[in-house]
Amino acid sequence: MNENLNLRQDELLIANQILDISLELAHTSGKRALEGRIAGLQNVETKSTSTDMVTEFDKATEKYIVEQIRARRPHDSIIGEEGAAYAGSSQYTWCIDPIDGTTNFLYALPSWSVSIGISDDSGQLVGVVYIPALDETFTAVRGQGAFLNNRSIRCNDTSDVSKALVCTGFSYSPEQRSKQSKRVSKFIHKIRDIRRFGAASVDICYVACGRLDAYFEENLHQWDIAAAELIAIEAGAKSGDFSGEASSPEEILIACPKVFKQLSEMIISSSLDQDNV
Ligand code: IPD
Ligand code: CA
Ligand code: CA
Repeated sequence: MNENLNLRQDELLIANQILDISLELAHTSGKRALEGRIAGLQNVETKSTSTDMVTEFDKATEKYIVEQIRARRPHDSIIGEEGAAYAGSSQYTWCIDPIDGTTNFLYALPSWSVSIGISDDSGQLVGVVYIPALDETFTAVRGQGAFLNNRSIRCNDTSDVSKALVCTGFSYSPEQRSKQSKRVSKFIHKIRDIRRFGAASVDICYVACGRLDAYFEENLHQWDIAAAELIAIEAGAKSGDFSGEASSPEEILIACPKVFKQLSEMIISSSLDQDNV
């Protein structure tokens, strides 16, 4: 919980209203997508590379969420992975990844989510990550702690990096992926192990609830982290770029606070080594 960012009563009221809407929209659309996936996929296309997939459910989920936000909060801005872009007059911006982990969705693996993050003039305000196949809902409101299915969660207290279970992701670009996997091979023996589940929002929420000790990735988009980063921070995790400066979708490391620096040093030195590979 970030107590420095406590909300005033009127701000908290609005944040909770936004949280309720986000929860309803994530649950309704996520359950529909899960039922649709079980019934069968009709339309699978590629986007940035031949491995970057999009299905009819990515598009339908975003369409539904955006229509509902437009109807209920017409003055808010909206950004969505599948093309939503509305500039509103209020201070609130909704950032939507309708299905984060589309490759998992395609293969009927459970690790995919509907991710909805809302920011205001002071930063990330509300985050909802719903994992339909596990019926798990991660939530946070700035300054109010983080929750999994309404139960308060905290990240682990891991202090020895050799005991840290670290998750990462690999880019859709083959060149980037090759570099990223070489980097991991340089320090995998110094940590407990590596995981790659395939949905950034889920990975980050797993750090928040102690299923992982750290997560790092680069070349993401704002919708991948808009909800989950707040959830992890509210659960006590530290977030930054690989050097410990402000995080961004281009470079993010989220870890139990006591192993952040050690991991940051490992990632940076393993990246530099690559020039000599
Ligand atoms: C992807 C997932 C994946 C990450 C990619 C993302 P998508 O999102 O979060 O884990 O490695 O960088 O683009 O395409 O499934 O929404
Ligand atoms: Ca995504
Ligand atoms: Ca997506």
